[in-house]
Amino acid sequence: MKYNVVMTGKILEPAQQKLAERCNLRIWDQAAPNARETLLQWLADAEGLMIRSDLQVDEELLRHAPNLRVIAQPMVGYDNVDIDACTRHGIPYGNTPGVLVDTTAELTFALMICAARRVHEGWDFVRDGRWQQGESFPYGFDLHGKTLGVVGMGQIGVAVATRAKAFGMKVIYNNRRQRPDDKELGFQYVTLDELLADADYIVVLTPLTPQSYQLFGAKEFAAMKPSAHFINVARGPVVDTMALYEALKDGQIAYAALDVTDPEPIPTGHPLLELNNILITPHIGSATLRTRIAMNMLAADNLLAGLERKPLPACVNPTVNYR
Ligand code: DGY
Repeated sequence: MKYNVVMTGKILEPAQQKLAERCNLRIWDQAAPNARETLLQWLADAEGLMIRSDLQVDEELLRHAPNLRVIAQPMVGYDNVDIDACTRHGIPYGNTPGVLVDTTAELTFALMICAARRVHEGWDFVRDGRWQQGESFPYGFDLHGKTLGVVGMGQIGVAVATRAKAFGMKVIYNNRRQRPDDKELGFQYVTLDELLADADYIVVLTPLTPQSYQLFGAKEFAAMKPSAHFINVARGPVVDTMALYEALKDGQIAYAALDVTDPEPIPTGHPLLELNNILITPHIGSATLRTRIAMNMLAADNLLAGLERKPLPACVNPTVNYR
């Protein structure tokens, strides 16, 4: 007998195939007419739910899913899921930590280097024929000898900061808790105010929670150095977008590189896109094929484990009392 599973979009092969062997898969289409009603109807007999970030899992949704045993998502972040509600309903939620750490650190580092050395402006300059016209290119900034401030020193933060050390940077960080291994790693724990004042590069990797919502606003940008480079690879709403826009426009900070935005996707015509001192990528932190397949496989394994009422390989609420 196969399990009934609702998916809010296909996942990558071979994970999709692995699920198809054991489950009857129904793929929900958010763009279809009456999409929400359809989803709630399908959830009436669903035993598993595989989601993407465009679905909010909340109390109302869970009330419509009396047979649900497990929810999984091929992402490490879970700000779209009410974990307490899942726990109350006896539903384990599986995410995909670990497998994306180095890949996301590499993209973060790429953004930092591209921002510092104005890589994409250099390419525009060449393409526009300005090199041939003998125009001089604006100077960039060094990384070596500079201070990196990491806000949110989890696994990805450590991977970014370790790379920064190899580049000859000093690393300071702020986190909910000081890391017991920070001396060994050569990172210095500071308050957020100290970090804002001292860092040349500020990298944001903190999860989106009620506490981190718009953590970076007008006051925080005003506290940064005018030469500061601000890099957000966490979640868009950790930043007050219009405050960032004003800070960049007024030269309060030098540059921003964002892999995440609020809103996301950022619409064409948004004021941020009119600035010259910004670089935005479309939420591609973990987007190498190898890593995305690993994330999808882990999500499939989480779902299959939950369907069988076994411990999930990666569970956010492992103390849940299974239904
Ligand atoms: C995650 O897994 O949370 C990332 O943001 C996806 O790239």
